[in-house]
Amino acid sequence: MARVGIYGATGYTGFELIKILARHPEVEIAFATARSAAGQLLSDVFPTLIDLPLVGVEEADLSGVDLVFTCLPHGAPELIPLVRQALERGVKVVDLSDTFRLVNAEDYQRRRGREHPAPDLLTAAVYGLPELHRERIRAARLVANTGCYPLTAILPLWPLVRAGLIADQTVIVDSKSGVSGAGRSLSLRTHFGETHETFSAYNVGRAHRHLGEMEQETGLHIIFAPHLLPVFRGILSTIYVTLRPHTSLAEARAAYAVFADEPFIKLLPEGRLPELRHVQQTMYLAIGLQPVEPEMGRYIIVATVDNLLKGASGQAVQNMNLMLGLPETLGLM
Ligand SMILES: NC(=O)c1ccc[n+]([C@@H]2O[C@H](COP(=O)([O-])OP(=O)(O)OC[C@H]3O[C@@H](n4cnc5c(N)ncnc54)[C@H](OP(=O)(O)O)[C@@H]3O)[C@@H](O)[C@H]2O)c1
Repeated sequence: MARVGIYGATGYTGFELIKILARHPEVEIAFATARSAAGQLLSDVFPTLIDLPLVGVEEADLSGVDLVFTCLPHGAPELIPLVRQALERGVKVVDLSDTFRLVNAEDYQRRRGREHPAPDLLTAAVYGLPELHRERIRAARLVANTGCYPLTAILPLWPLVRAGLIADQTVIVDSKSGVSGAGRSLSLRTHFGETHETFSAYNVGRAHRHLGEMEQETGLHIIFAPHLLPVFRGILSTIYVTLRPHTSLAEARAAYAVFADEPFIKLLPEGRLPELRHVQQTMYLAIGLQPVEPEMGRYIIVATVDNLLKGASGQAVQNMNLMLGLPETLGLM
């Protein structure tokens, strides 16, 4: 059995990770950390989960641990020291934050307007999208798990890029996310009174911090408009793309044959578009392709994913399986 640890186990992604790992046949949980709930049992926080003691990050014991998941919020100051400590002890890391997702420090500086806190780790990290980087993930010591919004843009667009079908390099990605995407910590923007029976856009244009990885992995110029949906889980992205004039639907769909053996990607039949309920509580990314004006190359793609599973913790386990030499879908089907 491989031994794994979880930093930030009491958040939304931590909760999902523990549900998956608790029934994974080749893994045992060595430790789980919490901040406010340190000293309690995991079952005190989530009564349906196991009676695992929750410790503070400084008390986590890395002895005999093979891999850790870091599920801390974006920008947590503890993250870099924890990642360094694990790597120095020979422990592999899957990080769920966006800290290590860009391939170089110059791009990070340009996009975020500040220096990366650990450029050496950025260089060492592999972008954790198995469908694109499977072999590099197998050999990686530090994997930067793909972001939830980016997943719904990169995977639907990449086959079309690869097939050379995209005519206009500027693509609009209009995404709607359930509120769990913002994590479990209290915030005015995501509390019930502010999200119930309303619908809002935020960080539109080129402002969102997930834009960089979308452009890095597709090579496209993306106009991104994220929205907050009054539901708990799931992301639906509507993508407006211009392909080469007169690209037929059959030709466009044929590009997705590259995903034919991917266990978690579903290209829906012609005429079907995915809904959130098709993917909620599942590992699937569902893609629907709709011609709008094919003579002009205009298509709409709709993609949906569960932000907490294929969009975060499920994909983190997929990456873990690859890094530990286990069957990629173990514990996930
Ligand atoms: N939510 C999603 O859909 C999603 C999808 C993809 C990626 N991600 C990324 O995954 C990471 C975790 O997200 P999440 O939604 O699980 O966050 P979350 O619900 O806010 O949980 C964060 C966890 O980290 C702990 N924590 C917070 N600040 C800490 C600190 N300074 N030091 C040590 N522990 C700390 C929290 O404990 P307390 O509760 O005691 O503070 C909690 O256990 C984030 O970087 C996020 O961007 C999230």
